[in-house]
Amino acid sequence: MSNANEKRLAGEAAIRHVEDGAIVGVGTGSTVAFFINALADIKDRIQGAVSSSEQSTAQLNKLGIPVLSLNDAGPLTLYVDGADECDPHKRLIKGGGAALTREKIIAAASAKFVCIIDSSKQVDLLGKFPLPIEVIPMARSLIGREVVKLGGQPVWRDGVVTDNGNWIIDVHGWQITDPVSLESQLNQLPGIVAVGLFARRPADVVLVGDREI
Ligand code: 5RP
Repeated sequence: MSNANEKRLAGEAAIRHVEDGAIVGVGTGSTVAFFINALADIKDRIQGAVSSSEQSTAQLNKLGIPVLSLNDAGPLTLYVDGADECDPHKRLIKGGGAALTREKIIAAASAKFVCIIDSSKQVDLLGKFPLPIEVIPMARSLIGREVVKLGGQPVWRDGVVTDNGNWIIDVHGWQITDPVSLESQLNQLPGIVAVGLFARRPADVVLVGDREI
């Protein structure tokens, strides 16, 4: 079961990784919300943030933290984000909040990815949490059929439209023994915008509550 106290501790502990003058990449979700609150306390020490979602942007704006576009910010030193699952190699499933594409872009642009989770997210094998895939709407059925060929059970997250105007398919039933290969394979399919597997670019640091693993 998810643990709000551990999420808060992790969000607060991530502040230790923020350097003076930084532009901080900011993820999305309830754990990140604690991080943004803590970031507000030191907002005079940073230049601002690059946000991965409209949800995080709204919170950053409300707390008076300047939000910059990634194009204006350039390479980032730090990205802080949550996850839905994390394996012992710091490979992740993300996208429960449907923000996976922008999250993946910012993670790729950042020198250090600090992942903040509670202990319920730690797994030995990825895949119990259904794997989110963002798709171009016209490719939904095509991708569903491809996923079935690969042994997964696709479920359309009906009614959800991402910040990019796309749809989400959640794939159930995969035990992901080789996440790097699966991520690469899925990335080849036309119509997939991003896969919620963060294995080719895993986290660099994982904070479970205030404990670094
Ligand atoms: C959003 C995400 C989140 O990081 C993930 O869903 C974890 O969320 P929370 O911190 O609320 O448990 O990937 O797309």
